[in-house]
Amino acid sequence: MNILTEAVAPNSERSTYGSLNLSENSPSVLPELLIVEEQLKRTVEKAQGMIRESCTQLLSSGGKRLRPLLTLHSAMCFGPLNTATLQAAVAAELIHMASLIHDDVIDHSELRRGQPTINFQQGNLNAVLTGDYLFAEAFQLLSAHQLLDSMKYLVEAIQSMCIGEVAQADHQFDISITVNDYFERIAQKTGILLAGSCRSGAVTAGASQGDIERLGTFGMYLGYAYQIIDDLLDFTGNPEQTGKPVAADLNNGNLTLPIIYLLKNPLYGPWAREIIQDKPTPQNMSKIIQALFSSKALDQAFSTALTCVESALSYLEKIPDCPSKTLLTKLAYTVVYRQN
Ligand code: IPE
Ligand code: IPE
Ligand code: MG
Ligand code: MG
Repeated sequence: MNILTEAVAPNSERSTYGSLNLSENSPSVLPELLIVEEQLKRTVEKAQGMIRESCTQLLSSGGKRLRPLLTLHSAMCFGPLNTATLQAAVAAELIHMASLIHDDVIDHSELRRGQPTINFQQGNLNAVLTGDYLFAEAFQLLSAHQLLDSMKYLVEAIQSMCIGEVAQADHQFDISITVNDYFERIAQKTGILLAGSCRSGAVTAGASQGDIERLGTFGMYLGYAYQIIDDLLDFTGNPEQTGKPVAADLNNGNLTLPIIYLLKNPLYGPWAREIIQDKPTPQNMSKIIQALFSSKALDQAFSTALTCVESALSYLEKIPDCPSKTLLTKLAYTVVYRQN
């Protein structure tokens, strides 16, 4: 447990919501995931050569399967699991996998889920094509099952991820970034896919338009919280647990919420602006990390994530009580108290 979340998470909440550990959402705990997992495995094993090997490694190296979980349980709020929902859940994870592979090319990342990335092992060309292959698999699946609504939500998410990644690349080490810019970017990079996964699940279960939108907004706020925690873990996480190196975002010039709060701090801001706009040296990097702790910028970002989760949960209020709603609620808290 890292110091930051240990300090912020009340014991009672940790024990209440800790029962759903994202990294242990093994199929034995959540049986629906077993079916999704099997199909994901079959899908990547259908490929050949390098693509087959790379995707099999990525799939077996872990991952929390958050997007399929959201699709499955958004649907199961409205009825028993059906084939369309399962296909939509598999498609959401395939799209997520593709976006991770492309993101690692963009971020020059060498480590993902504790394993060497595809770009590191096979080069950028092979990584880009492997990501494209997975996108194509997702659309083959959605079109074969005529899941046009799910396709619409997921296509929108892919387009947004592209826009978000371009905006991020255009603003490296840009100290003029505002909290609003950040929220817009994380909606594009993460929120819209989580929202789309929820909407896609709800629509396959025949939910009303109002309920589809409620689940979608739940997913969007959850996405905000999820990316804020990912950005916090970039500084506070244990690489053994996150499977990614520390401070990779700042090294890449990606100024995330804790840094934005530090830049806005009246005492630390002017000092931090000087250092960050000139791309911090390794020595300055460790000073910035220290300042993120001492200025409370990390705690501030954590409280913002909690507020987003509370907003997310408010959109579940009108959804009828059922085991899947309870699971989505637990999932929302697990997202903020996660360590990987
Ligand atoms: C990583 O997503 C990229 C972000 C949107 C933060 P996850 O943290 O869901 O990645 P896995 O699938 O669990 O590895
Ligand atoms: C999420 O952002 C990227 C995607 C939408 C795929 P990050 O760049 O922070 O994700 P990680 O930290 O590499 O997993
Ligand atoms: Mg990245
Ligand atoms: Mg990250």
